[in-house]
Amino acid sequence: MKTEARDWYKTAVFYQIWVRSFADGNGDGIGDLYGVYDKLEYIKSLGVNAIWFNPLYPSPNADFGYDISDYCNIHPDYGDLTQFVMVLEKAHALGMKVIMDLVINHTSDEHKWFQESRKGKDNPYSDYYIWRDEPNNWDSILEGSAWEYDEMRGQYYLHLFAKKQPDLNMDNPKVREEVKNILRFWLDLGVDGFREDVINFISKREGLPNGIGFLPIIGSMMHYKDGPHIHEYMKEFREVCDEYGAVQIGEGPMTTIGNALKYLSGDTKSLDMMFSFDHMTADCLFTEYMYRPFKLVRYKKALSKWQYKLQGKAWNSLYLENHDHPRIISRYGSEKYHRESGSALAFSYLFLRGTPFIYQGQEIGMTNIRLSSIHKYIDVSSINNYFKYHLKDDEKKRLHRIHVSSRDSARTPVQWNDEKYAGFSEVKPWFYLNPNYKTINVAAEEKDEDSILNYYRKCLAIRQKSKTLLFGNYKEYEADHPYVYMYERYLGKNSYTVIVSFAKEPIPFVLPKQYRGRNAKIVLSNYPAKNREGEIMHLPETMMMLEPYEAILLRLRRK
Ligand code: GLC
Ligand code: CA
Repeated sequence: MKTEARDWYKTAVFYQIWVRSFADGNGDGIGDLYGVYDKLEYIKSLGVNAIWFNPLYPSPNADFGYDISDYCNIHPDYGDLTQFVMVLEKAHALGMKVIMDLVINHTSDEHKWFQESRKGKDNPYSDYYIWRDEPNNWDSILEGSAWEYDEMRGQYYLHLFAKKQPDLNMDNPKVREEVKNILRFWLDLGVDGFREDVINFISKREGLPNGIGFLPIIGSMMHYKDGPHIHEYMKEFREVCDEYGAVQIGEGPMTTIGNALKYLSGDTKSLDMMFSFDHMTADCLFTEYMYRPFKLVRYKKALSKWQYKLQGKAWNSLYLENHDHPRIISRYGSEKYHRESGSALAFSYLFLRGTPFIYQGQEIGMTNIRLSSIHKYIDVSSINNYFKYHLKDDEKKRLHRIHVSSRDSARTPVQWNDEKYAGFSEVKPWFYLNPNYKTINVAAEEKDEDSILNYYRKCLAIRQKSKTLLFGNYKEYEADHPYVYMYERYLGKNSYTVIVSFAKEPIPFVLPKQYRGRNAKIVLSNYPAKNREGEIMHLPETMMMLEPYEAILLRLRRK
């Protein structure tokens, strides 16, 4: 058992790579592992010490890698296993861990198992998937009904996501053995753990009863979210990971804190961290497609809930972006106050208790792309949403919904410089570049000491050096304040306080009583001309003025 070797994750900072759009190293317009190899020093320079790769496996790309046709190989677009090992070894040599994406709720319909399973009920792979003569009323998350008729088999198969993503039958012990073999394959190569895709969906309720309620997707979820055998199956996978000391991070859509704690603590502990979604709905309901105006109070409430309830029991994962969500500045910040809001958002989560994740391009403040027609979008869920919901709205309104919600905004090529093709590739990239690459790019941000990029670096450097920021407790102040997020991290007498304004204009802010009249050291400020790092600030008795998206990190002794 190498379980204690696992504790590195608590002091880790992850960088997430969606390789297709990261950097093209071999000049075909598609991001790949050659590009990653060359950029590892850059990643390291952020203060990052771990990488999560989105699926790198062979895939027909119906859901960009989440439809896997071979679990133990590398997609030829991205390189091969030899190149992967080179990346892995170089990352390790630079002091960075590497985790893979484990997608086992479903495969691609082009996976050999499914091709066999279709052939009939006496095929050895027959029960690898979930087949029915009659569908139930479940809706899929990405594409229409959750059931698709297969001519060859003469039955329907279940797909909780896209049609080309048939769900595996995890109740079949042979399927679980396959999963363990996949884990071993990558662990033997030397990877350090897994991010486990929609892992709380893998055990379905027996008999697959109809869903209830007015929203078909949500109504059916109760029959497969945190399902009946989930903890037995998770235990089997945990045992394999225990042998290697591998870290496991689960994606837990729609999970409650109560359920999350079952995966994260106690006898049923099978995951080290979980990605929750609560804080992603401060400007929408369930998904960005059902948008509503951003409310800071919703964001704060979600963060605080997970901070408080996991304190002393389990470890949080912290993120603002990933490949499934539009860009955070376009959502919770302001493209007009790009630098200010981009850095303010960094302050709002990098000092929380837990392990931060940074998604490629987030560190330079990439923003949403707004394509002129739905036909230019490629994400299966954006296309499905567009043709399924709000059909009575005019085209402009419907396209606007895509502009604010599409996952494609997170998937445009990373903007490295202002040269042709943004330094992503020497040839035309596989997908649209955001035209703002002329001003928003890594090279420009490198040059500017107060850029978003450099605020990410500064925040991480401070955080990684401080026991209080790494392990201390969390406390929120002024929870009902509509424009200011204020929280404290403390350990013994040491204490840090973060104050972030989310207002687009200067606002007065009255500090809570226990802060008034005291002296605090300015550790970091995103208005450096106003608040100088290292100086002592006298905290006003009455009120202080905060500039648009002003953020400040203060240090003072705890009373
Ligand atoms: C997860 C992935 C997402 C994918 C879905 C189905 O939510 O992050 O990209 O579409 O699972 O695999
Ligand atoms: Ca390439």
